[in-house]
Amino acid sequence: MARLNIAVLISGRGSNLQALIDGCATPDFPAQIGLVISNTPDAAGLERARKAGFAAEIVNHRDHAGREGFEAALDKSLTRVGIELICLAGFMRLLTPGFVDRWADRLINIHPSLLPAYKGLDTHARVLADGVRFTGCTVHFVRAEMDHGPVILQAAVPVHCDDDEASLAARVLAAEHRCYPRALRLIADGRVEITDEIVTIKGMQSPDAVLVNPQPD
Ligand code: GRF
Repeated sequence: MARLNIAVLISGRGSNLQALIDGCATPDFPAQIGLVISNTPDAAGLERARKAGFAAEIVNHRDHAGREGFEAALDKSLTRVGIELICLAGFMRLLTPGFVDRWADRLINIHPSLLPAYKGLDTHARVLADGVRFTGCTVHFVRAEMDHGPVILQAAVPVHCDDDEASLAARVLAAEHRCYPRALRLIADGRVEITDEIVTIKGMQSPDAVLVNPQPD
């Protein structure tokens, strides 16, 4: 069966890109990375892509006068290699509604919170400041509004009483690395449907557990 041809768009470290590279390397994985694009020339993730033998391109937003020009360059690279799905992985440019609409339902993102809570940046600092007991990560379809769109998959992560931003970020990031390849697999297997902006997953199994934090004595 033909594998879903994906692009991964990054701006920095690229640890989620690495998780997708590793996921796609598992036998029978239903997706393949056709292209990695960074909008910054010094993104560490570019090296990860090259090391794994993937085509990696820089489409520098600074080389374009406006967002439309930048996105036209993105489109050109994406269509040239027949990309069917875009995975944003720490991609730090806001995309225009025009681009998002063109790629509607073929554009996904990972965000380090349980959306719709804690949209935007500095999620872990805000979680700690609010004193909530759980946070997590979300893989979702992208819509024009930032950090908004049909949820595909989430992971919940407990907040520990001695957490600081770094320790919480590390726990959430480990969950992200499990979630992103899993969400991609669901899409590539054709199990994900969007109806009225709600995702349903064919054959979805959910955990039958209540997580309590702090744990009962
Ligand atoms: C991740 O926390 C992701 O959820 C957010 O940006 C971060 C990217 O990290 N959108 P990395 O570049 O994948 O390591």
